[in-house]
Amino acid sequence: MRLFLIGFMSSGKSTVGRQLARKLNMEFIDIDSAFEEKYKISISDFFEKFGENKFRELERNILIEIIKIDNAIISTGGGTPCFYDNMQLINRNGISIYLKLHPNSIFDRLKNTKKQRPLINKLSEIELKEFIIKQLAIREIIYSQANIIIKAENLKINNFYDELKKTAENQNFKFP
Ligand code: S3P
Repeated sequence: MRLFLIGFMSSGKSTVGRQLARKLNMEFIDIDSAFEEKYKISISDFFEKFGENKFRELERNILIEIIKIDNAIISTGGGTPCFYDNMQLINRNGISIYLKLHPNSIFDRLKNTKKQRPLINKLSEIELKEFIIKQLAIREIIYSQANIIIKAENLKINNFYDELKKTAENQNFKFP
């Protein structure tokens, strides 16, 4: 089994993914961390030096490498599914789970944690709010192609798996 967690920055992909992997005895892979380990540079520094386009190209290469690993929970970067045909690649190679947040929740989470995030670290609060609303509207079209969509505001990590299965059933998706 291969599970992909997708969703906007701050939706909890890494936190939930790591915990779920431990519970299910699966490998946990975080695409952002894999990127930073492989290229020995933080994503913020990479954006500064080489720009977003190059980042998207290398991020896709990482996705292609990771997709070969079995029995894994993969936490993607917020933009990963939204470039090239990455979302199709994800859906062809595993089960995708969209951790969905309301724009206000995203704003509340990001306003204090934007420093290490290159796309938003220079934005004022008003600009951040606009960025979230605009980007989410664009990305939602891709995110909503996920096999399972789960509200991420109050995820209870302890029974996330049960919640996931229940949500999947309600959405007519047969979870293994
Ligand atoms: C990005 C999200 C980040 C990281 C990069 C770009 C995005 O990952 O990949 O800063 O485009 O939304 P997280 O969603 O893990 O913060």
